[in-house]
Amino acid sequence: MHYSKDEIQSVLVSNEAIQARLDELAAQINRDYAGKELLLVCILKGAVAVFADILRRIEIPCSIDFMAISSYGSSTKSSGVVRILKDLDHGIEGKDVLVVEDIVDSGMSMKYLLENLETRSPASIRILSLLDKPSRRRVELQPDYVGFTIPDEFVIGYGLDYGEKYRNLPDVCILSPKVYA
Ligand code: PRP
Repeated sequence: MHYSKDEIQSVLVSNEAIQARLDELAAQINRDYAGKELLLVCILKGAVAVFADILRRIEIPCSIDFMAISSYGSSTKSSGVVRILKDLDHGIEGKDVLVVEDIVDSGMSMKYLLENLETRSPASIRILSLLDKPSRRRVELQPDYVGFTIPDEFVIGYGLDYGEKYRNLPDVCILSPKVYA
C-alpha cells in the first residue's frame, strides 16, 4: 500500500480481525434468519467492503440492493436532513431487510434512513454496522449487529474515506491529523 506514514497514524482494526469478526456476525445472522429470505441493503459508498465480505458469508436465500445517501453539507448535518442520491431499485414491502453500514457516528444518517424505509412496510429492518462510535451519538440508535465499537478517532480504509481517498486500504486505520490540520 503506497500511503505514507504522514497519512496513516496507525492500524485500528486489521483486516484479519475484521474477517474473523464477520465470520461470527454472519453465523449469527444465518441463525437469526434461518427459514427466511433476506434483503441485504448496502449504503454506498462506505459500506462496499463490509457488504461484499458479509454477503459471501450469508447462507440463506438472499437478494441485494443499493442505496446512496448524503447529508446536506456539514453545516446542516446536525439537522439530520439526508438526501437520497440513489434509491433502492425495488420495493421492500413484506421483506426482511438488513441494512449494512460501515459506521454509525452521530446516528443521524441511519435514523433518517430507518424512518424512511419503515414507511415502505418491510416485515422487519435490522442494521449491521462494521464500526460503532457511541461516544458521538446524537440520537438514540443502536445497530443490531456491530463489528467493533471504536473510540472517537477519524478512521479510514476498508471502505471509509477522507476526501474520497483511502477506501482501498485493507485495514481500518486512524488518519494522521497532519492530513486535515
Ligand atoms: C458516512 C457513513 C454513514 C454516515 C455516518 O457516510 O457511511 O453513512 O457517514 O455518520 P452519522 O452517523 O454521523 O450520520 P458519508 O456521508 O461519509 O458517505 P460515504 O459512505 O459515501 O463515504
